Amino acid sequence: MNSKPLFLHDNMNKYFFNREYDIKRISYQINSVRESLAQHLLITGIRGVGKSYLIKKIISETEHDIICVYIDFSKVYSSYDEDLTMEIILTELLKVMNDSVNNQEYTNKYANTIKELIDNVKLKNYDFGKAKEIFKIPIPEVETDYRKLSQFVMEFPQKIVDTIDEVKGFVIFIDEFQTLTKMDNLDKFFWLIRSYTQTQHNTSYVFTGSISRTSKLIDEINGDEGAFGGRLNHFEIKPFSEVETRKYFDECMPEIEFTDDGFDRFYKCTRGIPLYVNSFYNVMDSSVVYSADVVKETFFMNMSQILFRWFRIWSNLNENEKEIVEILIENDGLTWTDLLEKTSVSRGTFNDNLKTLGYKGIIGVQNKLYFIEDYLLKAWLKHEKEVYGSYPD
Ligand SMILES: Nc1ncnc2c1ncn2[C@@H]1O[C@H](COP(=O)(O)OP(=O)(O)OP(=O)(O)O)[C@@H](O)[C@H]1O
Ligand SMILES: [Mg+2]
Repeated sequence: MNSKPLFLHDNMNKYFFNREYDIKRISYQINSVRESLAQHLLITGIRGVGKSYLIKKIISETEHDIICVYIDFSKVYSSYDEDLTMEIILTELLKVMNDSVNNQEYTNKYANTIKELIDNVKLKNYDFGKAKEIFKIPIPEVETDYRKLSQFVMEFPQKIVDTIDEVKGFVIFIDEFQTLTKMDNLDKFFWLIRSYTQTQHNTSYVFTGSISRTSKLIDEINGDEGAFGGRLNHFEIKPFSEVETRKYFDECMPEIEFTDDGFDRFYKCTRGIPLYVNSFYNVMDSSVVYSADVVKETFFMNMSQILFRWFRIWSNLNENEKEIVEILIENDGLTWTDLLEKTSVSRGTFNDNLKTLGYKGIIGVQNKLYFIEDYLLKAWLKHEKEVYGSYPD
């Protein structure tokens, strides 16, 4: 039996299934940077639905006259001990932009022009920390000047397009943008981008996040009062439908045999979320016929492999956050007040905890009622409680 990779990797084309329609719609919008009609996108979807996979695929298929850069803010966040500041975010952005430009075959041809561009920006007062070299031109370490830094970073992509004939557009993919809710001035970051996008017709921003359609964050960014005020084109990436999941097995994993009710059960359990479909597949056996009972048994026996992403997330929650989740497992759909009443958490901390649980894709709100967003996470925690008498640490 083969197994499916569960992380992003270089040979993803071999494993990538479906999504033709999403690719078409999103690529179309991205390609409009060539015509000076830069679009800005918001791509959301629940955890494991395949957002990062999809954008990597789109990047790999985009022609080289559009420079695509990718940054995962959750990785940036976890690589710093301190809280994320605007300076860190901007410096990290600059680093990935610079790397992408440096990787192109025309870089040498333009080295002098680009040096001039940097001189013109007169970035005198900024200490670039880790990004000390731009186009292999060392930047002197001097005092921090936020205004100059932000201007430089924000103007960089469009200046590259204007300077290099071979480049027709610049697209910046910001994955796990919801991590920025951890940063006090998230709003400032979005307003900053927004203020530059108005005059940059060949630079696109694509924000991707593991949040549900109902998340307040979407409204904060793209609602009437938000920085983008409805200008972000919103795409929601959906799990595979039952038909697509069936087709996925037929085409890519034909050795697995299901009875009809076995497949129904499998689909109900994984809900077509590619992460679960693949990790479930990795524990399946081609010599077994999967009836509903066998699917159920296989799931409970291999939970730790199927739900490996949640294990890490769960063990990193603090006690208060775990308490809130446990309450919601026992009482699905509570209002803010009812939920607060059942916890031992103070009001101030409670809101922080809800925010964290929201951006980690654990809880959602609908019609003012809070619930556990991920069905399998819920099944796992319930099972642990039933079998061991308590929730996992
Ligand atoms: N189109 C696809 N074809 C085949 N497998 C896929 C596809 N999309 C996603 N997967 C599988 O699902 C896994 C999770 O995908 P991905 O990391 O892109 O999800 P995500 O939505 O970015 O999740 P998170 O919210 O945790 O960041 C991948 O590692 C891969 O195994
Ligand atoms: Mg992702």
